[in-house]
Amino acid sequence: MNTLFREYLLPIIKYSIENRTIYIPRFNLNTLKKLVSYRVAKTPIAIMIEPACACNIQCPLCTTPHKYMSRKQGIMEFKTFQKLLNDVKDFVLVFYLNFAGEPFLNPHLFKMVDEATKHNILSLVDTNATLLTDERIREILDSELNILIINVDHIKKDHFENFRKGAKFESTMQGIKKLCEIKKKEKRFFPLVMAEIIVSRENEQHLQDIYDYAINELGVNGAWFKSLCFPLHSKGFRDDHNIKALVDKYLPLKSSVKRYNYINGDLQLINPKEFCDWEHKSLIMWDGRVSACCYDYDGAYTFGNINNRSFLDIWNSKKYRYYREKMIKNKKLSICERCSIL
Ligand SMILES: C[S@@+](CC[C@H](N)C(=O)[O-])C[C@H]1O[C@@H](n2cnc3c(N)ncnc32)[C@H](O)[C@@H]1O
Ligand code: SF4
Ligand code: SF4
Repeated sequence: MNTLFREYLLPIIKYSIENRTIYIPRFNLNTLKKLVSYRVAKTPIAIMIEPACACNIQCPLCTTPHKYMSRKQGIMEFKTFQKLLNDVKDFVLVFYLNFAGEPFLNPHLFKMVDEATKHNILSLVDTNATLLTDERIREILDSELNILIINVDHIKKDHFENFRKGAKFESTMQGIKKLCEIKKKEKRFFPLVMAEIIVSRENEQHLQDIYDYAINELGVNGAWFKSLCFPLHSKGFRDDHNIKALVDKYLPLKSSVKRYNYINGDLQLINPKEFCDWEHKSLIMWDGRVSACCYDYDGAYTFGNINNRSFLDIWNSKKYRYYREKMIKNKKLSICERCSIL
């Protein structure tokens, strides 16, 4: 609910106030039924979907690093999405269309968005914004997408290209700017284009400049800051990295937007007990497997596959219920030790 408010409702409210516009979501009996079913928690309110488990770039601190994955990687087939939608359309309110990869690698991404909208399901896509070709911009604007989150972590070319290894600063920013310009020209309300700025030592002195650049130069509708995460839960990450060197390079010194303190040679979470809302959400991997939460980058906590079982069957299975009630609620999965929901 926390994430839902921050990432979906808050941007809409802020944008509506700034533009003196009131956005009234399509609301009907079905939406009401969905809200009631959520209240009794028999169904999830939101689903994270992985359109692609693959990426065109290699961010060194990617939270879902492909390099350390033992699960097979691939692109979600449209029929898998369609099966999921049929299973959940009567109760789910939001689809987050991104997980361990770049969603724009899926050619059916906006068909998924439009199918979801037919059932009053709101959609968010989170992208590295490196694939914003003219065709893709047209596709975005012609779709029913509600929120597009793009990443603008740096406005210094070398910092950006180090943090987003394989991305080109100029062409990425050009794509974002073009999208915002055409959207403005066509007077479209959706999608809201929101910039996410991950705070690190390299950019903490320039946060205001980055924010201003995103709003004034690129023309996004809003921006927020996100704390940097080290993918410490990824098998092999610690073997390949010297923690002290990572801290010296990336951990913010001054900013309060941070997840860890560096104490006695290790990273300690600042707020490990923070509220986790995954007992009300579910994650569907590209191959149809249903997983516990978005920290499960390698599919270690999966409960079944929607290609051969109904979603509700899996959601209400003894094992998944046990995980939601006992493990997730109390943050007791082994990956919870390193996770702080911010
Ligand atoms: C794994 S990415 C997948 C979506 C897309 N490829 C992207 O990068 O936006 C999901 C989110 O995690 C963010 N992210 C990546 N590395 C991060 C890190 N080290 N700390 C915090 N957030 C990170 C991305 O910026 C994005 O918002
Ligand atoms: S663009 Fe996203 S998925 Fe790709 S490596 Fe970077 S953070 Fe990971
Ligand atoms: S790792 Fe634990 S605390 Fe973090 S999102 Fe998953 S279930 Fe919640």
